[in-house]
Amino acid sequence: MLTTQLSDALLGVYRPTGPTFVAGEGAYLIAEDGTRFLDFTSGIAVNALGHGDPDVLAAIRAALDTGLIHTSNLFRTRPAAELAAWLVEHSFADRVFLCNSGAEANEAALKFARRWAGTVADGKHEIVAFGGGFHGRTMGALAATARPAYQDPFRPLMRGVHFAEVGDVGEAERLIRRDRTAAVIIEPLQAEGGVLPVPPRFLKALRYLCDEAEALLILDEVQVGLGRTGTLWAHEQAGIQPDLMSLAKPLAGGLPMGAVLLTERVAAAIQPGDHGSTFGGGPVVASAALAVCRKIGNPAFLAEVRRKGAELGDRLHALALRQPRIRAVRGAGMIWGVQVAGAAAEVVSRALGTGLLLCTAGPEVVRLLPPLSATDEELARAVSILEGALAC
Ligand SMILES: Cc1ncc(COP(=O)(O)O)c(C=O)c1O
Repeated sequence: MLTTQLSDALLGVYRPTGPTFVAGEGAYLIAEDGTRFLDFTSGIAVNALGHGDPDVLAAIRAALDTGLIHTSNLFRTRPAAELAAWLVEHSFADRVFLCNSGAEANEAALKFARRWAGTVADGKHEIVAFGGGFHGRTMGALAATARPAYQDPFRPLMRGVHFAEVGDVGEAERLIRRDRTAAVIIEPLQAEGGVLPVPPRFLKALRYLCDEAEALLILDEVQVGLGRTGTLWAHEQAGIQPDLMSLAKPLAGGLPMGAVLLTERVAAAIQPGDHGSTFGGGPVVASAALAVCRKIGNPAFLAEVRRKGAELGDRLHALALRQPRIRAVRGAGMIWGVQVAGAAAEVVSRALGTGLLLCTAGPEVVRLLPPLSATDEELARAVSILEGALAC
């Protein structure tokens, strides 16, 4: 009764299912009645260190104990500066802009790219994005997200966005134009679009085409950055570097935070007042993010993610041999998609009934997003519950 009343007060943009959760412990979420659920959604790729990670909790507690929850960006605070320095030291970037979500990070990246392009040539403002991509639901990010169901109710959208298909180099070459294109935006692995890794040779081709046309390459690593695919940044596996990269989901251990990483070439075009965020980079979230980054950025931690991720992939491929309903298994590191015959949502719902939380990635793909810290036993247990859910 209480649950119904509470839900009724929230705007109906979500369809929450399952119980109301009251606690989290490692890879488990605990419901009001004490039932434990193995959480392979990780809050949609957010809780990379699981629930209640002691280092993240300690960092948040220590930050709270200073009494400094917010100052705004009128003033400097140490955690934001330290986080930016860590990100610069561990990436291609020279500068960092901190904000509060993935959509906001992409929105900022698009603005920074257009601001830079305006300093190169008049009329150089177009964006090239890709079918199957997802960049968020704010107006700019939405304009770069080729989904009629998300876009159509909100037209007219931001103009000047063109879509190509992943893998079609010829089409990308036609659309990326020296006189008009400011930037290309792509996820190195299309997560929401069905867990579709973008072939490294295509990412390399985009890097080349951007350089030829003096356009910027924006990589959206909101979902797959920070260790999810087994390397700190997903693009490392393609051997390329972007000009801008957006991050968000796992960054602050469950607190809301987004970031845009930029090269100095782009940063030099951005002036005070061009963009901003009241909350961006606050001391509590930035402290949590530093703890997350230091832990995930440890090479030994990442090696374990690669080992366990390969093991999970092997288990899912073996399951596909036993279970004819599985059409394909795709993924990397700790993000896997199992394409099924029939509705993925039904499989997710049956798994929920037997204690495993999963999500979908499109109508036919069941998505597994374990915490990067999940144990071998937890990975094995999840695949066994999934097998049961598929067999029904
Ligand atoms: C690749 C990617 N970009 C952007 C977003 C939007 O992030 P947020 O929901 O934090 O605005 C998402 C969210 O799923 C995402 O997966």
